Amino acid sequence: MKTAHTIEEVRSIIRAARAEGRGIGFVPTMGYLHRGHTSLVEESRKKTGFQVMSIFVNKMQFNDPKDFSNYPRDLERDLSIAREAGVDLVFVPTDEVMYRDQRTCVDVDLLTDHLCGAHRPGHFRGVFTVVGKLFNIVLPDIAVFGQKDIQQAVGLEKMVADLNFPLKIVIAPTVREDDGLAMSSRNRHLNADERHRALCIHRSLKKAAEMIASGERSASNISEAVGRVLAEGSPDKIDYVSVVRYGDLQPVDGISPKSVLAIAAFFGSTRLIDNMIMEERDEKFACIY
Ligand code: PAF
Repeated sequence: MKTAHTIEEVRSIIRAARAEGRGIGFVPTMGYLHRGHTSLVEESRKKTGFQVMSIFVNKMQFNDPKDFSNYPRDLERDLSIAREAGVDLVFVPTDEVMYRDQRTCVDVDLLTDHLCGAHRPGHFRGVFTVVGKLFNIVLPDIAVFGQKDIQQAVGLEKMVADLNFPLKIVIAPTVREDDGLAMSSRNRHLNADERHRALCIHRSLKKAAEMIASGERSASNISEAVGRVLAEGSPDKIDYVSVVRYGDLQPVDGISPKSVLAIAAFFGSTRLIDNMIMEERDEKFACIY
């Protein structure tokens, strides 16, 4: 596994991989890697021959400076996990390399009006800008993102379509702990009681999937039932329980043909998100969560 710190190094290593006829798969991360990240590399490896990962804690996407300084960092550990996962090149840029008097930003209109976009001003502008820059540095064939951050993934699909980036976004399934909690670097901030209570999120998605399997199609009925199951875990705050259309992430009344049930809730001071994609297939619904 190679490690690069400059854009020039990345470009020359990737040129050499392309010259060998290898397709480039890319997994952007902010480090503190867990199984969720390595599953993205596995997904990428199914489709491409050379795996690139970036590790960069992107200050621009943190709307809360405390959240940025508290973000866990452990590069040595990350490099060994990446090596183990079969990554070929890790790009670890500094702030200086990524942002030198940056004046250009990427915003995706409409798709950031609801869900986390409404609660974290400036967050997605930071995400889309850094990912757009990374795409132009790495020039991958595919880039893989986790379903857990669904607004990020769908927003990036739109950015790639609108700005004609020559690559495909792949959305990989959420990886969960055995008890259903979605993997996240934030989980380490939960104490035992908060972690136990947070399991209501997964239970609420299961409840929604059961309702849909027995014919429920109303977004408000599903959201209300989800709210009731969440309440059993006494979240310290619920930011949202929403059902939105998959393509533009606008609220809908009914779940057809493809929509997303998305949840954000606090347990203690830790904000957790999770979601389920609901897609009509031959008059039945696939619930992916
Ligand atoms: O999902 C993340 O870890 C970050 O938002 C990303 C895509 C690496 C951009 O900084």
